[in-house]
Amino acid sequence: MSNALKEYFSLCQNRIESALDERLPNELILPQRLHQAMRYSVLEGGKRMRPMLTYCAGKALGIAQEALDGPACAVEFIHVYSLIHDDLPAMDDDDLRRGKATCHVAFDEATAILAGDALQALAFEVLAHDPSINATPEGRLKMIIALTKASGSQGMVGGQAIDLESVGTQLTLPELENMHIHKTGALIRASVTMATLAKSDVDPIVATKLDNYAKCIGLSFQVKDDILDEESDTATLGKTQGKDKDNNKPTYPALLGMAGAKQKALELHDMALHNLSAFGAEADLLRDLSLYIIQRNH
Ligand code: IPE
Ligand code: IPE
Ligand code: MG
Ligand code: MG
Ligand code: MG
Repeated sequence: MSNALKEYFSLCQNRIESALDERLPNELILPQRLHQAMRYSVLEGGKRMRPMLTYCAGKALGIAQEALDGPACAVEFIHVYSLIHDDLPAMDDDDLRRGKATCHVAFDEATAILAGDALQALAFEVLAHDPSINATPEGRLKMIIALTKASGSQGMVGGQAIDLESVGTQLTLPELENMHIHKTGALIRASVTMATLAKSDVDPIVATKLDNYAKCIGLSFQVKDDILDEESDTATLGKTQGKDKDNNKPTYPALLGMAGAKQKALELHDMALHNLSAFGAEADLLRDLSLYIIQRNH
């Protein structure tokens, strides 16, 4: 990770940790067990890549971090809900997440399902209400639409459905790409879109360039996730290594081989940079983030 990104990361990390904490219901409020489960899964351990992306896209557009806390939290809440449900026995059946027991193991299955449901609702409540968002009412509505689309049956949930249907089958490359674009790419794209919507006068050409950048890193993120599932280890990942093979999941390394998957990640990084070519130093953090996504070790 570049020094500039490292510095910005730790700045944003502190910011997002307290922003998430402030927006989560206190665990003393009823129903306490549900609120404990929500806080347990959201707080501590995540890389916060999606909030980071919202802040870094905001930096490229000259938007203050304060105005992005709401959308950054909303996308992280949706992401954590997707992780809680992804780990359930009916889905990937994982018992380790972010270095600790998965929500359904630490609590129970019903609580995990409900914690995911409640985090999803909270994400949209934040977008609808959060006083930190100073977008126009139209911008706020567009943020809600962007996140609902990215989350639903034609976004993340749709991708998860394709993932589950594909277990044990041989997907073609376009089919695999389609699955990854939906299950992971959509939310990553929305993280950038929401930054462009936080300001009323973003040039549509600039917004499209940022969106094209986000499409590339949304896919490279899952390609790298597949690579790490094979190459990394459980302690570093904070989730059980080798689960994709165990669960017979179609992945980039399974389809293209490890060298082919790494090549694909590099190509996507190049394409991401190409989409930022009209930007100056204000987009350096986005450039660094794209490289970090394909070089990270967890
Ligand atoms: C894991 O996401 C799930 C995918 C969509 C690939 P992250 O790797 O961002 O997980 P956390 O948030 O850091 O735990
Ligand atoms: C999950 O993809 C994407 C989500 C929408 C949560 P994976 O199933 O590969 O994510 P991990 O590896 O469990 O984090
Ligand atoms: Mg999964
Ligand atoms: Mg999984
Ligand atoms: Mg994975």
